[in-house]
Amino acid sequence: MKKYLVTGGAGFVGSNLAFALAAERKARVTVLDDFSSGNYKNLLGFSGDVITDDIGARGWFDRAGKVDAIFHEAAMVDTTVSDQGVMMRSNVDAFRNVLDYALKFGVKRVVYASSAAVYGNSPCPMHEDQAPTPENVYGFSKAIMDNVAREFAAEHKDMTIVGLRYFNVYGPREYYKGKMASMVFQLYRQMKAGKRPRIFKFGEQLRDFVYVKDIVRGNLNALDAEKSCVCNLATGKPGNFNEVIEALNKALGLDLAPEYLDNPYAFYQNKTQADMRQARALLNYRPEWSLADGVADYVAVLEKTRF
Ligand SMILES: NC(=O)c1ccc[n+]([C@@H]2O[C@H](COP(=O)([O-])OP(=O)(O)OC[C@H]3O[C@@H](n4cnc5c(N)ncnc54)[C@H](O)[C@@H]3O)[C@@H](O)[C@H]2O)c1
Repeated sequence: MKKYLVTGGAGFVGSNLAFALAAERKARVTVLDDFSSGNYKNLLGFSGDVITDDIGARGWFDRAGKVDAIFHEAAMVDTTVSDQGVMMRSNVDAFRNVLDYALKFGVKRVVYASSAAVYGNSPCPMHEDQAPTPENVYGFSKAIMDNVAREFAAEHKDMTIVGLRYFNVYGPREYYKGKMASMVFQLYRQMKAGKRPRIFKFGEQLRDFVYVKDIVRGNLNALDAEKSCVCNLATGKPGNFNEVIEALNKALGLDLAPEYLDNPYAFYQNKTQADMRQARALLNYRPEWSLADGVADYVAVLEKTRF
Protein backbone atom coordinates (compact mmCIF):
# COMPACT_ATOMS: atom_id res chain seq x y z
CA MET A 1 0.00 0.00 0.00
CA LYS A 2 1.38 3.42 -0.99
CA LYS A 3 1.71 6.10 1.64
CA TYR A 4 1.25 9.80 0.93
CA LEU A 5 1.61 12.96 2.96
CA VAL A 6 -0.76 15.84 2.18
CA THR A 7 0.24 19.16 3.74
CA GLY A 8 -2.69 21.55 4.07
CA GLY A 9 -4.97 18.52 4.02
CA ALA A 10 -7.59 20.19 6.22
CA GLY A 11 -8.00 22.91 3.61
CA PHE A 12 -10.01 23.12 0.42
CA VAL A 13 -7.80 21.47 -2.21
CA GLY A 14 -5.87 19.33 0.27
CA SER A 15 -8.95 17.66 1.75
CA ASN A 16 -10.40 16.86 -1.68
CA LEU A 17 -7.04 15.37 -2.62
CA ALA A 18 -6.69 13.40 0.63
CA PHE A 19 -10.08 11.73 0.05
CA ALA A 20 -9.28 10.98 -3.60
CA LEU A 21 -5.89 9.41 -2.77
CA ALA A 22 -7.48 7.17 -0.15
CA ALA A 23 -10.45 6.19 -2.34
CA GLU A 24 -8.95 5.96 -5.84
CA ARG A 25 -5.38 4.92 -5.03
CA LYS A 26 -6.27 2.86 -1.95
CA ALA A 27 -3.41 4.66 -0.25
CA ARG A 28 -2.56 5.39 3.37
CA VAL A 29 -2.83 9.16 3.63
CA THR A 30 -1.47 11.35 6.40
CA VAL A 31 -2.54 14.98 6.62
CA LEU A 32 -0.22 17.64 8.02
CA ASP A 33 -2.01 20.86 8.90
CA ASP A 34 -1.91 23.57 11.56
CA PHE A 35 -5.63 24.35 11.08
CA SER A 36 -4.89 28.04 10.54
CA SER A 37 -7.33 28.27 7.61
CA GLY A 38 -8.43 24.63 7.32
CA ASN A 39 -11.17 22.97 9.34
CA TYR A 40 -11.69 19.49 10.75
CA LYS A 41 -15.13 19.44 9.10
CA ASN A 42 -13.41 19.18 5.70
CA LEU A 43 -12.04 15.83 6.89
CA LEU A 44 -15.17 14.26 8.37
CA GLY A 45 -15.12 10.62 7.21
CA PHE A 46 -11.37 10.68 6.48
CA SER A 47 -9.74 7.33 7.29
CA GLY A 48 -6.11 8.44 7.73
CA ASP A 49 -3.90 10.09 10.33
CA VAL A 50 -3.64 13.82 11.02
CA ILE A 51 -0.49 15.53 12.29
CA THR A 52 -1.15 18.99 13.68
CA ASP A 53 1.94 21.08 13.18
CA ASP A 54 3.45 23.97 11.26
CA ILE A 55 5.05 23.03 7.92
CA GLY A 56 7.91 25.35 8.84
CA ALA A 57 8.75 23.28 11.95
CA ARG A 58 10.72 20.02 12.03
CA GLY A 59 8.98 18.17 14.84
CA TRP A 60 6.66 16.47 12.34
CA PHE A 61 9.48 14.92 10.27
CA ASP A 62 9.79 11.75 12.35
CA ARG A 63 6.07 11.48 12.93
CA ALA A 64 5.34 11.62 9.20
CA GLY A 65 8.15 9.13 8.47
CA LYS A 66 8.86 7.75 5.02
CA VAL A 67 6.19 8.24 2.36
CA ASP A 68 6.00 7.51 -1.36
CA ALA A 69 5.16 11.09 -2.28
CA ILE A 70 4.34 14.45 -0.72
CA PHE A 71 1.53 16.68 -1.91
CA HIS A 72 2.35 20.11 -0.56
CA GLU A 73 -0.81 22.26 -0.44
CA ALA A 74 -0.28 24.19 2.82
CA ALA A 75 0.38 27.88 2.33
CA MET A 76 -0.59 31.33 3.41
CA VAL A 77 -3.33 31.82 0.82
CA ASP A 78 -4.66 35.25 1.74
CA THR A 79 -3.60 37.30 -1.28
CA THR A 80 -4.39 40.51 0.62
CA VAL A 81 -1.72 39.90 3.32
CA SER A 82 0.72 42.78 2.97
CA ASP A 83 3.41 41.68 5.47
CA GLN A 84 5.94 40.53 2.91
CA GLY A 85 8.22 38.78 5.42
CA VAL A 86 5.37 36.74 6.85
CA MET A 87 4.22 35.67 3.39
CA MET A 88 7.73 34.73 2.22
CA ARG A 89 8.54 32.77 5.39
CA SER A 90 5.17 30.97 5.34
CA ASN A 91 5.41 29.95 1.71
CA VAL A 92 9.04 29.87 0.55
CA ASP A 93 10.98 28.98 3.72
CA ALA A 94 8.40 26.38 4.70
CA PHE A 95 8.66 24.84 1.21
CA ARG A 96 12.44 24.52 1.68
CA ASN A 97 11.68 22.74 4.95
CA VAL A 98 9.35 20.29 3.15
CA LEU A 99 12.11 19.61 0.61
CA ASP A 100 14.57 19.00 3.49
CA TYR A 101 12.13 16.47 4.90
CA ALA A 102 11.92 14.75 1.49
CA LEU A 103 15.73 14.52 1.35
CA LYS A 104 16.04 13.24 4.90
CA PHE A 105 13.49 10.45 4.38
CA GLY A 106 14.36 9.58 0.78
CA VAL A 107 11.00 10.71 -0.61
CA LYS A 108 11.51 10.77 -4.37
CA ARG A 109 8.43 12.71 -5.48
CA VAL A 110 7.13 16.09 -4.33
CA VAL A 111 4.06 17.67 -5.92
CA TYR A 112 3.38 21.22 -4.75
CA ALA A 113 0.79 23.92 -5.33
CA SER A 114 2.03 26.95 -7.20
CA SER A 115 -0.39 29.54 -8.55
CA ALA A 116 -1.56 31.52 -11.57
CA ALA A 117 -0.80 34.55 -9.37
CA VAL A 118 2.78 34.31 -10.67
CA TYR A 119 1.45 35.68 -14.01
CA GLY A 120 -0.22 38.81 -12.61
CA ASN A 121 -1.78 40.74 -15.45
CA SER A 122 0.38 39.34 -18.22
CA PRO A 123 -0.89 38.51 -21.74
CA CYS A 124 -3.05 35.44 -22.35
CA PRO A 125 -2.80 32.55 -22.78
CA MET A 126 -0.35 32.37 -19.88
CA HIS A 127 2.52 30.00 -20.53
CA GLU A 128 4.90 28.45 -18.01
CA ASP A 129 7.96 29.80 -19.85
CA GLN A 130 7.03 33.47 -19.69
CA ALA A 131 8.79 35.53 -17.01
CA PRO A 132 6.69 35.77 -13.83
CA THR A 133 5.10 39.18 -13.26
CA PRO A 134 3.22 38.80 -9.96
CA GLU A 135 1.15 41.74 -8.72
CA ASN A 136 1.35 40.87 -5.01
CA VAL A 137 3.71 39.20 -2.57
CA TYR A 138 1.60 36.03 -2.58
CA GLY A 139 2.23 35.59 -6.32
CA PHE A 140 5.88 36.49 -5.77
CA SER A 141 6.21 33.81 -3.08
CA LYS A 142 4.83 31.20 -5.49
CA ALA A 143 7.22 32.35 -8.26
CA ILE A 144 10.16 31.95 -5.87
CA MET A 145 8.87 28.49 -4.84
CA ASP A 146 9.04 27.56 -8.54
CA ASN A 147 12.66 28.80 -8.65
CA VAL A 148 13.56 26.85 -5.50
CA ALA A 149 11.93 23.73 -6.99
CA ARG A 150 13.80 24.10 -10.27
CA GLU A 151 17.19 24.46 -8.56
CA PHE A 152 16.44 21.63 -6.14
CA ALA A 153 15.41 19.31 -9.01
CA ALA A 154 18.60 20.16 -10.91
CA GLU A 155 20.68 19.22 -7.86
CA HIS A 156 18.72 16.03 -7.10
CA LYS A 157 18.20 14.27 -10.40
CA ASP A 158 16.85 11.13 -8.71
CA MET A 159 13.84 13.12 -7.47
CA THR A 160 10.79 14.41 -9.34
CA ILE A 161 9.45 17.79 -8.26
CA VAL A 162 6.18 18.86 -9.92
CA GLY A 163 4.77 22.36 -9.46
CA LEU A 164 1.12 22.96 -10.37
CA ARG A 165 -0.03 26.48 -11.11
CA TYR A 166 -3.71 26.40 -10.17
CA PHE A 167 -5.93 29.06 -11.71
CA ASN A 168 -9.33 30.00 -10.14
CA VAL A 169 -10.40 26.88 -8.29
CA TYR A 170 -13.96 26.38 -7.04
CA GLY A 171 -15.79 23.42 -5.54
CA PRO A 172 -16.81 21.51 -2.40
CA ARG A 173 -14.94 22.13 0.90
CA GLU A 174 -13.97 25.74 0.16
CA TYR A 175 -16.50 27.05 2.70
CA TYR A 176 -13.93 27.69 5.47
CA LYS A 177 -11.85 29.97 3.25
CA GLY A 178 -14.24 32.83 4.08
CA LYS A 179 -13.46 35.90 1.97
CA MET A 180 -10.82 33.90 0.04
CA ALA A 181 -13.44 31.41 -1.23
CA SER A 182 -14.14 31.50 -4.96
CA MET A 183 -16.53 33.94 -6.65
CA VAL A 184 -18.68 30.94 -7.56
CA PHE A 185 -19.25 30.32 -3.86
CA GLN A 186 -19.65 34.02 -2.92
CA LEU A 187 -22.26 34.54 -5.64
CA TYR A 188 -24.05 31.31 -4.66
CA ARG A 189 -24.39 32.59 -1.07
CA GLN A 190 -25.82 35.92 -2.23
CA MET A 191 -28.32 34.26 -4.55
CA LYS A 192 -29.41 31.72 -1.92
CA ALA A 193 -30.13 34.67 0.39
CA GLY A 194 -32.50 35.98 -2.30
CA LYS A 195 -30.20 38.87 -3.23
CA ARG A 196 -29.16 39.92 -6.69
CA PRO A 197 -25.56 38.79 -7.28
CA ARG A 198 -23.15 41.74 -7.12
CA ILE A 199 -20.28 41.95 -9.58
CA PHE A 200 -18.14 44.70 -11.10
CA LYS A 201 -19.35 46.44 -14.28
CA PHE A 202 -20.22 44.75 -16.58
CA GLY A 203 -19.36 41.21 -15.59
CA GLU A 204 -17.28 40.62 -18.67
CA GLN A 205 -13.92 40.04 -16.97
CA LEU A 206 -12.69 36.55 -17.82
CA ARG A 207 -11.24 33.97 -15.43
CA ASP A 208 -9.93 30.50 -16.07
CA PHE A 209 -12.27 28.88 -13.54
CA VAL A 210 -11.36 25.28 -12.78
CA TYR A 211 -13.38 22.75 -10.83
CA VAL A 212 -11.59 21.16 -7.88
CA LYS A 213 -12.20 17.67 -9.32
CA ASP A 214 -9.96 18.62 -12.27
CA ILE A 215 -7.34 19.96 -9.85
CA VAL A 216 -7.40 16.65 -7.97
CA ARG A 217 -7.05 14.78 -11.28
CA GLY A 218 -4.01 16.89 -12.20
CA ASN A 219 -2.39 16.10 -8.85
CA LEU A 220 -3.00 12.37 -9.27
CA ASN A 221 -1.55 12.52 -12.78
CA ALA A 222 1.55 14.21 -11.33
CA LEU A 223 2.33 10.90 -9.60
CA ASP A 224 3.20 9.56 -13.06
CA ALA A 225 5.08 12.61 -14.38
CA GLU A 226 8.35 11.41 -15.87
CA LYS A 227 10.35 14.51 -15.10
CA SER A 228 10.37 17.56 -12.85
CA CYS A 229 8.31 20.41 -14.25
CA VAL A 230 5.94 23.29 -13.57
CA CYS A 231 2.53 23.07 -15.28
CA ASN A 232 -0.62 25.17 -15.38
CA LEU A 233 -3.74 23.50 -13.99
CA ALA A 234 -6.89 25.10 -15.38
CA THR A 235 -9.23 24.54 -18.32
CA GLY A 236 -7.75 26.88 -20.92
CA LYS A 237 -11.32 28.05 -21.61
CA PRO A 238 -12.08 31.09 -19.47
CA GLY A 239 -15.59 32.15 -18.55
CA ASN A 240 -16.82 35.54 -17.38
CA PHE A 241 -18.74 36.52 -14.23
CA ASN A 242 -22.03 36.87 -16.12
CA GLU A 243 -21.62 33.25 -17.20
CA VAL A 244 -21.03 32.17 -13.60
CA ILE A 245 -24.29 33.83 -12.60
CA GLU A 246 -26.08 32.26 -15.55
CA ALA A 247 -24.84 28.80 -14.50
CA LEU A 248 -25.85 29.43 -10.87
CA ASN A 249 -29.31 30.63 -11.91
CA LYS A 250 -29.77 27.51 -13.99
CA ALA A 251 -28.55 25.15 -11.26
CA LEU A 252 -30.70 26.85 -8.61
CA GLY A 253 -33.81 27.33 -10.77
CA LEU A 254 -33.59 31.11 -10.29
CA ASP A 255 -33.58 34.12 -12.60
CA LEU A 256 -31.68 36.79 -10.68
CA ALA A 257 -30.14 39.60 -12.72
CA PRO A 258 -26.66 40.77 -11.74
CA GLU A 259 -26.25 44.08 -9.95
CA TYR A 260 -23.29 45.86 -11.51
CA LEU A 261 -20.97 47.88 -9.25
CA ASP A 262 -18.28 50.41 -10.08
CA ASN A 263 -14.88 48.79 -9.82
CA PRO A 264 -12.86 50.72 -7.21
CA TYR A 265 -9.57 49.00 -8.02
CA ALA A 266 -7.00 50.70 -10.20
CA PHE A 267 -5.46 47.27 -10.75
CA TYR A 268 -7.91 44.56 -11.77
CA GLN A 269 -7.29 41.59 -14.02
CA ASN A 270 -9.46 41.62 -17.10
CA LYS A 271 -8.56 38.12 -18.14
CA THR A 272 -6.77 35.00 -17.02
CA GLN A 273 -6.35 32.06 -19.33
CA ALA A 274 -3.93 29.16 -19.07
CA ASP A 275 -1.98 27.70 -21.91
CA MET A 276 -2.68 24.00 -21.36
CA ARG A 277 -0.13 22.45 -23.72
CA GLN A 278 2.52 21.71 -21.10
CA ALA A 279 0.09 20.03 -18.69
CA ARG A 280 -1.26 17.93 -21.55
CA ALA A 281 2.21 16.88 -22.68
CA LEU A 282 3.88 16.27 -19.30
CA LEU A 283 0.95 15.26 -17.08
CA ASN A 284 -1.43 13.81 -19.63
CA TYR A 285 -3.92 16.25 -18.09
CA ARG A 286 -7.20 16.97 -19.81
CA PRO A 287 -9.76 19.05 -17.92
CA GLU A 288 -13.12 17.29 -17.79
CA TRP A 289 -15.34 19.97 -16.29
CA SER A 290 -16.75 22.95 -18.20
CA LEU A 291 -17.83 25.95 -16.10
CA ALA A 292 -21.54 25.11 -16.56
CA ASP A 293 -21.09 21.44 -15.64
CA GLY A 294 -18.75 22.19 -12.73
CA VAL A 295 -21.14 24.76 -11.25
CA ALA A 296 -24.10 22.36 -11.62
CA ASP A 297 -22.17 19.54 -9.91
CA TYR A 298 -21.00 21.89 -7.14
CA VAL A 299 -24.46 23.37 -6.50
CA ALA A 300 -25.87 19.85 -6.12
CA VAL A 301 -23.36 19.32 -3.28
CA LEU A 302 -23.97 22.76 -1.74
CA GLU A 303 -27.71 22.19 -1.68
CA LYS A 304 -27.16 19.12 0.52
CA THR A 305 -24.68 20.89 2.84
CA ARG A 306 -25.62 22.47 6.15
CA PHE A 307 -23.21 25.32 6.93
N1 LIG B 1 -7.97 27.77 -4.29
C1 LIG B 1 -7.40 28.37 -5.33
O1 LIG B 1 -8.10 28.98 -6.19
C2 LIG B 1 -5.90 28.34 -5.50
C3 LIG B 1 -5.35 28.95 -6.64
C4 LIG B 1 -3.98 28.92 -6.80
C5 LIG B 1 -3.17 28.27 -5.89
N2 LIG B 1 -3.72 27.71 -4.79
C6 LIG B 1 -2.82 27.03 -3.82
O2 LIG B 1 -3.37 25.78 -3.49
C7 LIG B 1 -3.01 25.42 -2.16
C8 LIG B 1 -4.25 25.05 -1.37
O3 LIG B 1 -5.08 26.21 -1.26
P1 LIG B 1 -6.57 26.12 -0.75
O4 LIG B 1 -7.39 26.93 -1.67
O5 LIG B 1 -6.92 24.71 -0.50
O6 LIG B 1 -6.44 26.94 0.63
P2 LIG B 1 -6.87 26.54 2.11
O7 LIG B 1 -6.63 27.75 2.95
O8 LIG B 1 -8.23 25.95 2.14
O9 LIG B 1 -5.82 25.41 2.47
C9 LIG B 1 -4.54 25.66 3.01
C10 LIG B 1 -4.34 24.73 4.18
O10 LIG B 1 -2.99 24.89 4.66
C11 LIG B 1 -3.01 24.97 6.07
N3 LIG B 1 -1.84 25.72 6.47
C12 LIG B 1 -1.57 27.03 6.18
N4 LIG B 1 -0.39 27.37 6.69
C13 LIG B 1 0.10 26.26 7.32
C14 LIG B 1 1.31 25.99 8.04
N5 LIG B 1 2.23 26.93 8.22
N6 LIG B 1 1.49 24.75 8.53
C15 LIG B 1 0.56 23.78 8.34
N7 LIG B 1 -0.59 23.99 7.67
C16 LIG B 1 -0.81 25.22 7.16
C17 LIG B 1 -4.33 25.65 6.41
O11 LIG B 1 -4.77 25.40 7.73
C18 LIG B 1 -5.26 25.05 5.36
O12 LIG B 1 -5.85 23.86 5.83
C19 LIG B 1 -2.25 26.62 -1.59
O13 LIG B 1 -0.86 26.38 -1.71
C20 LIG B 1 -2.65 27.75 -2.51
O14 LIG B 1 -1.66 28.76 -2.56
C21 LIG B 1 -5.07 27.72 -4.57
